[in-house]
Amino acid sequence: MGVDDYRIRSVGRHYSKTLANLHESCFAKGWSYLEFESFFERKGMFAAIAHHKEKGDVGFVLCWLIEDQCDLLSMGVLPDYRRDGVGVLLLEYALEHAAGLGAKFMMLEVNVNNTAAQTLYEAHGFEKFSVRKDYYSNIDGSRSDAICMRKALG
Ligand SMILES: CC(C)(COP(=O)(O)OP(=O)(O)OC[C@H]1O[C@@H](n2cnc3c(N)ncnc32)[C@H](O)[C@@H]1OP(=O)(O)O)[C@@H](O)C(=O)NCCC(=O)NCCS
Repeated sequence: MGVDDYRIRSVGRHYSKTLANLHESCFAKGWSYLEFESFFERKGMFAAIAHHKEKGDVGFVLCWLIEDQCDLLSMGVLPDYRRDGVGVLLLEYALEHAAGLGAKFMMLEVNVNNTAAQTLYEAHGFEKFSVRKDYYSNIDGSRSDAICMRKALG
């Protein structure tokens, strides 16, 4: 497989179940489709799905634009399709779409233990600007810090 086998397409509320299924397969704690449905009631929410031409939907990104800042709320790629460039495709889509809507910054939080995501974000110009202590609760009951990252757009 390779990046040419994937297509990124914008999706809305009607894709909440697909988004919830993808999210559940990417994270230890999934978000329900009702949560995704409620996200889309917020102004400025946008999402996209990575679709493999034979395998179907394999990844997603969810963002929330508030005035000139865009929060990347979540992003994930199904385990079997990782390291194939899909994360880059989704992130680049989110950055371009946010800039097109007038965002000046993209912000996100990432678990301090999530080396894969941090490497991806740093390679795309995101910089750490603060730490949120014990922000994440892990399935084993422990807590982890969130690293807050930001990138100027345009
Ligand atoms: C983070 C995630 C979205 C990356 O998706 P992906 O499709 O595997 O990413 P890509 O193939 O586009 O990788 C792009 C770059 O990210 C970095 N990267 C990705 N996975 C990595 C890993 N496991 N270790 C180190 N670097 C990694 C590499 O620099 C990689 O480039 P390379 O393959 O040329 O070395 C994916 O690992 C995932 O879904 N993780 C679980 C959910 C998650 O953590 N989401 C982010 C929450 S903030």
